[in-house]
Amino acid sequence: MRDSRFALAFFLVTTFVFAMLNFRTDLEAQFAAHDPGPRGAPVGAGAAVQGLTPTQKSFFEDGLSRFLEIDSVGGTLSGETGRGLGPGFNSNQCASCHSQPATGGSSPSRYAFPFIGPNPQVAVANLDGATNIVPFFVTEDGPVREPRFKYFLTSAGILSQQRDGGVHNVFTIQGRVDATNVMGMTGHLQTCQLAQPDFQQMAELNNLSLRIPTPLFGAGLIENIPEATIEANMQSDAALKRALGISGHPNRNPNDGTISRFGWKAQNKSLQLFAAEAYSVEVGVSNEVFPSERGYAPTPPPPNCLFNATPEDATNMDQDHDGPAVPSDVVQFSTFMRYLDQPTPACEGSGCSPSVQNGRALFSSVGCALCHAPSMRTTVAYFGRTLSNIEAKLYSDLLVHHMGAGLADDIVQGNAGPDEFRTAPLWGLGQRVFFLHDGRTQDLVEAIEQHASSGSEGGGVVSRYNHLNENQKQDLLNFLRSL
Ligand code: HEC
Ligand code: HEC
Repeated sequence: MRDSRFALAFFLVTTFVFAMLNFRTDLEAQFAAHDPGPRGAPVGAGAAVQGLTPTQKSFFEDGLSRFLEIDSVGGTLSGETGRGLGPGFNSNQCASCHSQPATGGSSPSRYAFPFIGPNPQVAVANLDGATNIVPFFVTEDGPVREPRFKYFLTSAGILSQQRDGGVHNVFTIQGRVDATNVMGMTGHLQTCQLAQPDFQQMAELNNLSLRIPTPLFGAGLIENIPEATIEANMQSDAALKRALGISGHPNRNPNDGTISRFGWKAQNKSLQLFAAEAYSVEVGVSNEVFPSERGYAPTPPPPNCLFNATPEDATNMDQDHDGPAVPSDVVQFSTFMRYLDQPTPACEGSGCSPSVQNGRALFSSVGCALCHAPSMRTTVAYFGRTLSNIEAKLYSDLLVHHMGAGLADDIVQGNAGPDEFRTAPLWGLGQRVFFLHDGRTQDLVEAIEQHASSGSEGGGVVSRYNHLNENQKQDLLNFLRSL
């Protein structure tokens, strides 16, 4: 009797325990880790580094105001303070593409906090009478995008073997009131007629590759990380990296041999060079570093589309005083970006939730940190102690890596080949909306899975990520959104 009661109790208890165990597995099966999405207030980016002198601060503020200037062709339209837009352009203001979550950031989005606005390229297409057609890869809900063509076309309109790789402007100034029947460089009233490229045709030929803006917070720190530090980090954990298939190398400037570090392929050496190139390529403003107006390579711009003496931006020699008014826009854009502080994460160290702390540990143990190096120190900076000996928590090794067929854009820049990209710095990731070089996803899980296509150095690490249980994956994602 006692035995059978005991047996019954035993049976009931074990059944209950097994039921609970099954219930748990069911729960776990139903629970799939997911990207918690961009985090809300406070915005931890957009301020200058701490401790600038009053003069440095005045240069920063002046640079910021120029970064916010809206360019028109002749600089005479109301509300448009800058001069030199076009003939081709992708937008009319640095800040239009670098604005989320604060000025200097990445592409704005409808879905971001704070709400900055939809993709500004849609409105700029027809601003001031411009007759541009918005191409299919630019949408109100999508990111700002700029197109590159992989190869040149022959005169017969078929793909050649010759690599192009350059940026082709989305828009032209055709139809704008300040480019129609206006006095220009021909010495007569002139009207710009310049067609947009046929992006649909380029897409059909599989000749189009797209890029979204990279955020600029902490850019001055990136500029000041010594080469020896980048090299030492590259040599570290050699056996582990080899076992996981990770190599990576710096993209060196082909002329002076130093490590370049800006852009999706680490293709540009300095903030000043990038600012000058962006002013020419994105906005169409010629300057002291890129003094000629851009046409549609290899075709020069039509004479009727040139309205200003070149360069359109230059050192202001008519300023008879010292101070931030004298340097060119290009120099002042660089000053602004150099002093933009690194983003502030939501929490640090033991101040973070247990989930975020566990996610941070997994980020290292899984191997993400082998490419996304959590931090590197800057050297002594001429531009001030505020940039000197600072721990830049960038989550990048500043090297380029093979990322496989799925991410390859078939563009070669310096030593960076068709499928090589700079390890994207992950600082500020918590407030970012669009991911990967072409902004193909808004979902961190998808961004991670995209690391694993054939030929990618990221495949080994992603397979370790895939072996985590869903709770661990969630901790890792929570950690990423804390950055
Ligand atoms: C039409 C949008 C657009 C405009 C306008 C624009 N940018 Fe950018 N910016 C981009 C894109 C896209 C990239 C990534 C380019 C690449 O890697 O090929 C980028 C990258 C950069 C970078 C590299 C940062 C890094 O760490 O990789 C700098 C610096 C920069 N832009 C500065 C500027 C400045 C200064 C201006 C104004 C003169 C400007 N940009 C205007 C789209 C834009
Ligand atoms: C082999 C080096 C490497 C490893 C390992 C690696 N990444 Fe990356 N990661 C990159 C590169 C390179 C890019 C940029 C790729 C592109 O845009 O096409 C990138 C991009 C990203 C992005 C998108 C960032 C942005 O600005 O759009 C996220 C998020 C990311 N990685 C997270 C991770 C996580 C999490 C892990 C570990 C599971 C990881 N990565 C492992 C090299 C690596």
